[in-house]
This record gives sequence, structure tokens and C-alpha cells, in this order.
Amino acid sequence: MKNERIGFGSKLGAVLASAGSAVGLGNVWRFPYETGQHGGAAFILIYLGCIIFFGVPIMMSEFVIGRNTHCNTAGAYKKLAPGTPWKWVGFLGVLTGFLILSYYSVVAGWTLEYIFEALGNAFSGKTAAQFESSFSEFTQDPFRPVLWMIVFLLLTHYIVVKGVDKGIERSSKIMMPLLFVIVIILVFCSLSLDNSEKGLDFLLKPDFSKVNSDVFLGAMGQAFFSLSLGMGALCTYASYFTPETNLTKTAFSVATIDTLVAILAGLIIFPAAFSVGIEPDKGASLVFITLPNVFQQAFHGLPVLSYIFALMFYVLLAIAALTSTISLHEVATAYLHEEFGITRKKAACMVTSVCIFLGIFCSLSLGIMHNVKVFGLNIFDLFDYATTKIMLPVGGMFISIFVGWYLDKKLVWSEIMNEGHLHRSFFKVFIFILRFVAPIGIALIFLNELGLFKIIEKALTK
Ligand code: TRP
Repeated sequence: MKNERIGFGSKLGAVLASAGSAVGLGNVWRFPYETGQHGGAAFILIYLGCIIFFGVPIMMSEFVIGRNTHCNTAGAYKKLAPGTPWKWVGFLGVLTGFLILSYYSVVAGWTLEYIFEALGNAFSGKTAAQFESSFSEFTQDPFRPVLWMIVFLLLTHYIVVKGVDKGIERSSKIMMPLLFVIVIILVFCSLSLDNSEKGLDFLLKPDFSKVNSDVFLGAMGQAFFSLSLGMGALCTYASYFTPETNLTKTAFSVATIDTLVAILAGLIIFPAAFSVGIEPDKGASLVFITLPNVFQQAFHGLPVLSYIFALMFYVLLAIAALTSTISLHEVATAYLHEEFGITRKKAACMVTSVCIFLGIFCSLSLGIMHNVKVFGLNIFDLFDYATTKIMLPVGGMFISIFVGWYLDKKLVWSEIMNEGHLHRSFFKVFIFILRFVAPIGIALIFLNELGLFKIIEKALTK
């Protein structure tokens, strides 16, 4: 059965596939707008704290569960904790995967539209205001974005069914470094624009007066989302790791690459946004409006460069999104295939159909269905909020409790120590974080959001 799955050939393959899952729209599209809406540098500091105290240890935990069992995420819990309710953590992950994939594919579809526009040189000569209006016109259209979303899901489907081995592994080796190079060049372009210092200030000078409970919840959710944590995506990938893969090193590498790309994306977006006078709290559209602007303004006089950079950037962004959607799709496909004994192809067809169905509503909720609101949110925002700010952190909390408290420490030790590099004291810190720091920290952030501390504060000051 293992041969039908991806099966990463090497340690590098493991790092690249996991980094491919982590680096995606979460870094380039979601991170800047969350940072913008939550006030900039202070948000980033809290985000970094979440990466270190929740992200890396929980990623290592997912790796332990996945590689030890060689199973899909729900199957893994059944194997490690037979007859217990722990399997529900696996089911929660599969459900979360469906929801994320549905709205993520809508945004991924936008990148295809932008490739299409870049190809036709449609960005040339447009002003910031024009980019803004054409973006909202496009996303509110009832057909075009839906079509692109379906195309994107079919692409994902095709690769998941074909198996991701050499194709994705090999192309990631070229594409990921290339994306990195382009991103660095764009940082310089963006910093060269007039007024870009204001963007830098926003990104680097923390203003703690803006920190409220939403900032904590937002930073925590973004950390889980960006690292692909809390729903078993990396657990599923780890089930394809070789016995030689060093789990600790891999987790640190993935977290470092992911964080670096997010910060660099911020260094492109904010200087550019301030330079053309777009508010940093503009929300989900920030990247799709400011970036085409950077391409226009940074190279004026050299339209060929504008053309090439715009095109390359969106192609690479689409590929980064694709390596992420594959990991989301794989969780549900592996689950249906292994647990219900249906073929991989059938399993993948079911996943794709459900996501197309849900994705249509996500896309339409930005246009003709914007009046349909649940808890005051449209469907797209509801899916984003429920998964990122609730389901992923809850999943992560259970994963840390599972590995920290439930699993036999010898099993955890042998997975983590396969190459014998890790120091004993580090292992103790790791377990301590899993037992106390991560679950209590996550719980406190939830309670804080629910207003518990405010109630206590009020009671005490009375
Ligand atoms: N991390 C990806 C990004 O930043 C998105 C993603 C892929 C994801 N797989 C996931 C998010 C699993 C949460 C869970 O774009």
C-alpha cells in the first residue's frame, strides 16, 4: 500500500514536501493581511512566539505520530490508541482539511486568473485604484473565479491521483529556491519605492497598545495555518518519511523556511502598500492589489521586466499554493482510501467533488451570496475563521496532549532520537512544552478571546 502513496525518496524530499505544504498562500496572502489588520510588528512578535512554543513542538509531534504508524491521520490514532476516543482528533483533522481546501482553492484560483492577466499584459499602465476595482469586480463575478477554483482543484486532483513522487519532489527543488530568489528581488524593488520607510516602521516597530485578545488568537491561528499544523497534514506526510529522516531537524528547517518567506512577503507588501497609499488593514485583497502595483512601479521604463516579474511571480505563487493544496487533499484521500478500502482514485474523486461543491459557495459568498451570513460572517470568512482560529488550534492542543501525556515516552524518544543526535535535556524540554506550555497556552488564548480575563479583571477592580 505504501508504494501507491507518495513515499519521499530522501531526507531532502521530506523537508521539501513538508516545506512545500507549509509555504503557500498562507505566507504571501494571509500573513500580510492578518499582520495588517492586527497592527503590524507586535502581531509578528506574538506570531514568532507561537511558532516557537506551539509550532515546532507540535510539528515534531505530528511527525512522531505519522512516521511511527505509517498511516493516514485517523488510522494513526486508531493504531496508537485503539478503542479510545483519540480517533476523533483524526476525524476532526479530515473535516478541517475539507473546509480549508474549499476556501483555499478559491484564492488559489485567483492566482491562475492573475497568471492569465499577466500573460496578456493586462497590468500594464493601470493605477492603484484601477487594480483595486478590477480585483473586486473579478472576485464578485459569479463565474470566472468559480471556474478558476475548479481548474485549481482539478490540477490538485490530477497530481494526488498520479502520485507526487518524482514530479513534485523534483520540481519543488527548482521552484522553491526560484520563488525565494524572486521574493528577495521584489523586497528590494518594494523598498526602493517612495515612502517605503513607513511600511518598514509598521512591520518592525511594535506598538503594544494595539494588542488585544484578537491579536493573540489571530497570531496563534496564523501560526497553525502557515505551518500546516493541527489537522494531520504533516502527520500524513511523515508517514511517508524514511527511517533516517531526522524529525527535529526537519521541523526546525520547515519552520525557519516558512517564517522567512512570510516575513519577506511582509517586506514586499507593506512598503509597497504605504507607498501607493493603500491602508495596511485592507484585508484579504491586500496582496492582489499592491503586488501588481509593485511590478508596474518598480521597473518603470523597463516594461519587459515588469511583464516578466509579474508573470513569474504568479506562476510561482500558484505552484506554492499547489504544493499546499496537495497536502490538504492527501489527508482526506489517504483517509478514505485506507479506512474504507476504496481505490485512491475513487477516494480522490470524492474529495475533489465535495471541495468543488463547498468551494462554489465560498467563491459566491464574496459576490452574489454576500448577504448569506452565519455569526455575522460570509461563508468564505466563516470557513477561514472556524478552521484557522478554532479547529486547527484545538487539533494542535490535542496532538500535544496525545504525545506529551498519552503516548509511551520510549516510543516518542526512539522516533525523535533515530540518529542519536538529540541531547537528553532537549528531549525533556520538548516533553515539558507538550505537556504544559502548549496546551495551557492555547487554552489561555481561547479563554482570553472569550473574555474570561476581562471578567476577572472587572471582578477584581470592583
Ligand atoms: N500552510 C499552507 C499555507 O501556508 C496551507 C496549508 C496546507 C495548510 N496544508 C495545510 C493549513 C494544513 C492548515 C493545515 O499556505
